[in-house]
Amino acid sequence: MKINENTLLEGHRVVLVPYNAQHVPRYHEWMKSPELQQLTASEPLTLDQEYNMQQSWREDNDKCTFIILDKQQWADPSVVEEQCMVGDVNIFLTDPTDPSLAELEVMIAEPSYRGKGIGKEVTRMMMFYGVSKLGVKRFQAKIGLDNEVSVSMFKKLRFKEVSVCQVFKEVTLEMAVDEAVRTWLSDDVTLVKEKDYRESCNSRQQLVL
Ligand SMILES: CC(C)(COP(=O)(O)OP(=O)(O)OC[C@H]1O[C@@H](n2cnc3c(N)ncnc32)[C@H](O)[C@@H]1OP(=O)(O)O)[C@@H](O)C(=O)NCCC(=O)NCCS
Repeated sequence: MKINENTLLEGHRVVLVPYNAQHVPRYHEWMKSPELQQLTASEPLTLDQEYNMQQSWREDNDKCTFIILDKQQWADPSVVEEQCMVGDVNIFLTDPTDPSLAELEVMIAEPSYRGKGIGKEVTRMMMFYGVSKLGVKRFQAKIGLDNEVSVSMFKKLRFKEVSVCQVFKEVTLEMAVDEAVRTWLSDDVTLVKEKDYRESCNSRQQLVL
């Protein structure tokens, strides 16, 4: 999606930035992990395929993605952006007849960053973005039955289990965006700042010159 190609969202512990070609090599390294492939139900891609995938996430109107950066690391301009990468968060508009339905995916790829509240923080930030900028009215999360951490996180975020598919060993959780959810999301992200990504990168670069 082009809508977020120059958007930076700054939260408490994270900065979300658009997925660019510069992020691909590290992303590709992450996805070589059999554990991440299994937890995210992903097939391994070649580096070229990963670059194509990055392009498709940028160009296709049904996909919106951000790379999650460690805010503290990113605040230090001597640390290159790729070294600040922690994971990614995506919205996928799965139903062409209903653009208000969005599937959410989150990956904290760096194991040392898991279990610290980052998954919950970025999911809320992305939900707020989806509701306010993309007009999402219903979120879905499809999670492997054995991924207890992810199921638990979405339940903590008020998602409800709607179905279990034994064939794909997958549970589907959903949340409808009503007025209470809108209020909860906007209360929670009042401290999130939206900035111009390119300007922020330029300011960082000037500080190291
Ligand atoms: C699943 C994932 C996104 C959760 O993000 P996280 O930053 O580790 O989770 P958080 O610290 O925000 O915790 C959120 C909730 O998850 C659950 N949780 C976190 N760590 C847990 C653990 N080790 N054991 C059990 N539950 C755990 C808790 O319910 C927690 O809520 P609480 O802190 O209020 O108790 C992250 O662990 C991850 O990306 N894992 C690898 C890839 C993956 O599984 N992606 C999801 C594919 S559907």
